[in-house]
Amino acid sequence: MDILEIRKIKKRFGGVLALDSLSLTIRKGEITAVIGPNGSGKSTLINLLTGVVPWDQGVVAIDGVLISELSMEEVAEYGITRTFQEVRLFEQITVLDNILVILTSRSLWGSILERHSKLHLKQAEDVLKTVGLWDKRGDLVVNLSYGQRKLLEISRALAMKAEIYLFDEPFAGLFPEMTKLVASVLEGLRVQGKTVVLIEHNMDLIRQLSDWVCVLDGGTLLAEGRPEVVLSQREVIEAYLGD
Ligand SMILES: Nc1ncnc2c1ncn2[C@@H]1O[C@H](COP(=O)(O)OP(=O)(O)OP(=O)(O)O)[C@@H](O)[C@H]1O
Ligand SMILES: [Mg+2]
Repeated sequence: MDILEIRKIKKRFGGVLALDSLSLTIRKGEITAVIGPNGSGKSTLINLLTGVVPWDQGVVAIDGVLISELSMEEVAEYGITRTFQEVRLFEQITVLDNILVILTSRSLWGSILERHSKLHLKQAEDVLKTVGLWDKRGDLVVNLSYGQRKLLEISRALAMKAEIYLFDEPFAGLFPEMTKLVASVLEGLRVQGKTVVLIEHNMDLIRQLSDWVCVLDGGTLLAEGRPEVVLSQREVIEAYLGD
């Protein structure tokens, strides 16, 4: 079943046509990898689907509901969450508070001052343990390493309890141990029947994790299919080599 259907989406930034009548579908419960050379429109696609930037033309159907413009509130309502290519966290509060802010959905300061319910603390413990950051719960985010910040961002996405998870290069710059951890997080989401969109450049990870691969080039869909098929197609290899 298609949970996300993108139909003829156009997005222009000044002179750059970032998405050029892009159409693609994302199936429920699968890990779909979105690959393509730098500047091919991968992050733009996620930005549109999460209401960060509006698109110019086209429609998106989420679970069959047609949408011509998405606000951040609607995105939450439809159960879509994401991580950013450039990690975005609250720097001057603790790891634990970065999760509690999401669970309580209060204002930042309201959430910190509030006495948290046992349930929220348990949920925060679960997501932080999933990414191996429970021991760091009292640390200020500003003091975390690059990899730990990426893990925290992923755990924040997990705390949202969404249906659709969009990950923008979650493995970039991670050491092997952390890579394994993030791979198991993604596999865990698939086991739970969640839908994952994964932007990734590492072909081994794509082969290991994805059910389906969509290749973007110049804002259009160059190819799609099963990883073992798509990754050996000549035009796909050429698009990467030409980068
Ligand atoms: N906010 C913006 N303002 C202006 N141009 C933008 C903006 N966002 C993206 N672009 C342009 O749109 C095109 C697609 O960018 P996008 O970030 O989606 O590529 P990408 O496939 O994610 O690349 P990368 O692999 O480098 O992350 C690029 O030419 C980029 O410069
Ligand atoms: Mg990008």
